[in-house]
Amino acid sequence: MDLGLQGKVALVTAASKGLGKAIAWELAREGCRVAICAREQTTLDATAEEIRHATGAEVLALPCNVTQADQIDRLVASAQARFGRIDILVNNAGGPPTGSFAIFDDAAWQRALDLNLMSAVRLCRAVLPGMKERGWGRIINSTSVMVKQPEEGFVLSTAARAGLVGMAKTIAAEYAAAGITVNNVCPGYTLTDRVRALAESRMAAEGRSYEEVLADYAAEIPAGRLGRPEELAALVVFLASERASYITGATIPVDGGYCRALL
Ligand SMILES: NC(=O)c1ccc[n+]([C@@H]2O[C@H](COP(=O)([O-])OP(=O)(O)OC[C@H]3O[C@@H](n4cnc5c(N)ncnc54)[C@H](OP(=O)(O)O)[C@@H]3O)[C@@H](O)[C@H]2O)c1
Repeated sequence: MDLGLQGKVALVTAASKGLGKAIAWELAREGCRVAICAREQTTLDATAEEIRHATGAEVLALPCNVTQADQIDRLVASAQARFGRIDILVNNAGGPPTGSFAIFDDAAWQRALDLNLMSAVRLCRAVLPGMKERGWGRIINSTSVMVKQPEEGFVLSTAARAGLVGMAKTIAAEYAAAGITVNNVCPGYTLTDRVRALAESRMAAEGRSYEEVLADYAAEIPAGRLGRPEELAALVVFLASERASYITGATIPVDGGYCRALL
């Protein structure tokens, strides 16, 4: 299937590792020029080089902490200066701490909102005028399956991401006639460094092996295994494509059947 992505320009945030990296990689493979960001430069540069080498695509590595408004402005300006425009924005970020509701004060809530909601608000605000002018754009927010099926301990993440889904649904309607689609993808448990770290903290707390903890996660998933980052990336690339021109305002899980909700 020709996805029509050759020559498009994509900005993928939080993409030196894990889900963001897989998304940037697949977009590059489809012929996009890709700008990626993360906070730590060495891994970011290594990832950009890895993707360039594997795909032959132009990959621009720009350090940026997406919680900082001024850094987002610089990120978008640098990507536009190099590539002339941004056609596809993939909003991804790190995850906030887990824990019960009672332990988080206002500062913790504000950090989570800056990380998983305001980053996307600011990035959308920066790229939408150009997309509207050109009559074409794709925005894909990577959220979590917990926006459909909340789970104990993830209150900061779920509340911030639910806000993002609300924003996306609203602006999807506002920009649909301008040829811009806005969608959310919802990763379920997917094997990345973040999930390895969550598993390691459970190992320490519960005195069990890594394999036992991963088997616990897998037992909750009808597919019987955790996801692979490229399985989320495949959906993102499709939503970014010409072929997905009539899909907007959707919130789609990639979770091996984990979410039991009807909608
Ligand atoms: N993996 C899963 O099963 C899963 C499921 C549902 C939702 N999620 C969510 O998906 C997102 C990505 O998770 P992942 O599993 O891919 O994590 P990961 O493997 O730990 O990768 C996180 C990436 O985000 C970057 N990053 C973190 N904070 C950032 C910031 N403030 N500004 C810019 N870049 C930042 C990291 O680089 P630096 O540290 O250098 O900045 C790294 O490149 C997280 O929000 C996570 O909560 C993951």
